Amino acid sequence: MASGAEAGPQFVDISVNYLKNYILFRMISKEFQKRRQALMEQMEPDSLAILFATPPSIRNRDVTYFYRPDSDFYYLTGFKEPEAVAILTPGHTKTEYTLFCRKRDEKKERWEGPITGPQEAIEHYGADAAFPINELDKRVPKLLERMQRVYYAVGSNPALDQQMNTWLNNIRLKTRSGVQGPKEIRLLDQYLHEMRLKKSPTELATLRTAVTISAQAHRLVMQNCNPEMTEYSLEADFVHECIRQKAKHQAYSPIIAGGNNGCILHYEANSGILKDGELVLIDAGCEYDYYAADITRTFPINGHFSPPQRELYELVLEAQTEVLKKVKPNTSWRTLQQTAIRTITKGLIELKLLDGSTNTLSKLIKTKKYKKFYMHGIGHWLGLDVHDVGTYKIAKKWRALEPGMCFTVEPGIYISPDTPDIDKRWHGIGIRIEDDVVVTDKGCEVLSYQVPRTIDEIESLANS
Ligand code: GLY
Ligand code: MN
Ligand code: MN
Repeated sequence: MASGAEAGPQFVDISVNYLKNYILFRMISKEFQKRRQALMEQMEPDSLAILFATPPSIRNRDVTYFYRPDSDFYYLTGFKEPEAVAILTPGHTKTEYTLFCRKRDEKKERWEGPITGPQEAIEHYGADAAFPINELDKRVPKLLERMQRVYYAVGSNPALDQQMNTWLNNIRLKTRSGVQGPKEIRLLDQYLHEMRLKKSPTELATLRTAVTISAQAHRLVMQNCNPEMTEYSLEADFVHECIRQKAKHQAYSPIIAGGNNGCILHYEANSGILKDGELVLIDAGCEYDYYAADITRTFPINGHFSPPQRELYELVLEAQTEVLKKVKPNTSWRTLQQTAIRTITKGLIELKLLDGSTNTLSKLIKTKKYKKFYMHGIGHWLGLDVHDVGTYKIAKKWRALEPGMCFTVEPGIYISPDTPDIDKRWHGIGIRIEDDVVVTDKGCEVLSYQVPRTIDEIESLANS
């Protein structure tokens, strides 16, 4: 970008960037510290919380999948390496946060890249104390012996459960020498997942980046799609755009489903040819800095909606619009689902896809007749996981929305050719419109607003 004469200021740019990155890093470290503090404030005295990093998973033989840290572990530590264990001991003098991690190892690092090591774990990740992971067995049982309660995600990984069982059993075996172990195990999830449900401004900024990159990839694919292209070439274009913008992984396997394939809810083969006159349903979102986007658009492969496609599309869009109007603090999750069901059922009656002559709207809703065409929920929490953690009910009641909650709104109608008693004109039309939203103080913000939603907007972009 710079000519020779501008070379000087470039150096200034670099150092400014370095400073910005350093400040950002410190801010983010503070955020992880705040999260650990918030968790510790909820823990009882004499208790310990323990989190294990997910072990790497084998793809085949000696090849592993690209390593992604467990979301709970990452949320509290910001630490991205495998073979790590975090321990929180609130009120413990000087060491409330202990991190076990891999030791530096010059040989290993030559093959696999840098390892943080315990010393840097203290300096950069805010641990009060850090030890090599091979000291876990020596140190953790001693800590456990002094505790009344353990907070731990029981059952989330059999190998880790086995580790914990061994430690607890060994303590049992020492009862006669006066050793007392914890009396209670609590599921860590209930505390941590409630925290993860409401996103902080830093989390929202990252989520926005994931959604914005995905939105741009959706636009690109919508604009470049033509009859006779393959589903996998659209997938390649989508993924390419995400990676180009540094989102190297998808949050889930993209669904690129032409024609009838759009009626298979979890279609992933993406191997078909896109046909003139049919729709393509694209459900895809990248992961950016471990936060997931999840967006679906359905559009005509040739750029023009046919009359039946148009009618069903307008109905799904109306359902989504009605739900979005209701997204605000205190609306119950159930209201969102009911709004989508009511709008879709009413529309299906008007299109004569459901028989409204002998049944009332409320009877068709009560008997769930809409399920023949709309068979999934209205959405799900969104965050570090695409189907993010957090309960949908509290004390058996659907929970009320609160500012900072993020989720998808994704109504759909699917009419596969084997749907019984349906006029052929509707066959092979599968439509879902999915957007990502955050609840604000007064309503909601649609994070994925950049991707066209209306028929006019879609046709205009597709033909531009
Ligand atoms: N892409 C997964 C979902 O929409 O839930
Ligand atoms: Mn979704
Ligand atoms: Mn989706």
